[in-house]
Amino acid sequence: MSFSPPPYPYERLDVLKKLADTHDGGPIDCSIGTPVDAPPAAVLEELAKGTGARGYPTSQGSPEYRASVAAWMNRRFGLSLSSNDLAACIGTKEFVGNVAGYLHLRSPERDTVLYPSISYPTYAMGATLSGLRSVPVAITNGKLDLDAIDPNDAERALVLWANSPSNPTGLLDDLERAASWGRQRGVPVVSDECYAEFTWAGRPRSILEHGLDGVLALHSISKRSNLAGLRAGFYAGDETLVSYLRSVRQHAGFMVAAPVQAAVAVAYNDDEHVNAQRERYRSRLTMMSEALRSVGVDAPMPEGAFYLWCSKSGMDGWELAALLAEKCALVVSPGELYGDDGANFVRIAMVQPDERLELAAERLRAS
Ligand SMILES: Cc1ncc(COP(=O)(O)O)c(C=O)c1O
Repeated sequence: MSFSPPPYPYERLDVLKKLADTHDGGPIDCSIGTPVDAPPAAVLEELAKGTGARGYPTSQGSPEYRASVAAWMNRRFGLSLSSNDLAACIGTKEFVGNVAGYLHLRSPERDTVLYPSISYPTYAMGATLSGLRSVPVAITNGKLDLDAIDPNDAERALVLWANSPSNPTGLLDDLERAASWGRQRGVPVVSDECYAEFTWAGRPRSILEHGLDGVLALHSISKRSNLAGLRAGFYAGDETLVSYLRSVRQHAGFMVAAPVQAAVAVAYNDDEHVNAQRERYRSRLTMMSEALRSVGVDAPMPEGAFYLWCSKSGMDGWELAALLAEKCALVVSPGELYGDDGANFVRIAMVQPDERLELAAERLRAS
């Protein structure tokens, strides 16, 4: 059977944008999680130098890139990684989209991708794009329900995805448990930790705190430093997995542009801009959560990430999204975009300037 790509999820939101457009100032778009705040100036200055633009960059990342990343992981999560425990990727979406296919080349007898039933859509799409099966894992009491995984699916699994803090739910998972589940069954666990800097319940966590064996942590500069346009991230962890993927990805020609590598090294060497960004998101989440609650929307503060995962009794996600577009021009993502289990929710990303969110909040309070 030939493959036709489905519509890109966010292309389905035009109907909501039309509803929001009836307000003065037009839609307040909180649907896609794209950063809106300024990136650090020192990073852009480094980028402008064009360091390394003449020759080909290394696929695994320059020594400076990997050293700055390792140092960040070590100070942020109390690890003792070396530069050889990790390698670069071109933003994490491409890695999410193709890692299962590469793991399948290594273990052709396995054909299944396990992923959270409410999650970033690319985990499942990565399986589809490699001709593999994707099997959702239920979320029970806010964690991956590992006991509910069919033993037959576990035997066929190439990878178990964890995502903590989660997009879209903002939940924190039990990464130690996920790591040990994978180790017991020989299933690599890839922990997507791209929102780790924005952890509200306690300190940021990495799966690598529970050992490197059989696991990878995946990180991105996109959200940490408001640099989604640069396209850079990295994966770190199990020596055999990192070395296999580093080699396959070099053969396939994946390379982060050299001036971007130099700029990203500057970003990972600095924490201050992240501290400031964290406070911006925290205050937006608090303000919008209160305003939404004032109109009967259940909008709890998340444990992490910069999304509100909201519901209103008697409404499904599309109905609630339409209501918010009509009431206050907010364009939000219906939860169905993240899996059928999310159908009664909407996700609201705190990616509009403060004054635009305040305008939406005022309209809600006045309604
Ligand atoms: C959970 C999750 N993983 C990965 C990504 C991809 O980020 P990037 O490709 O910018 O690194 C996103 C982006 O929204 C995300 O929410």
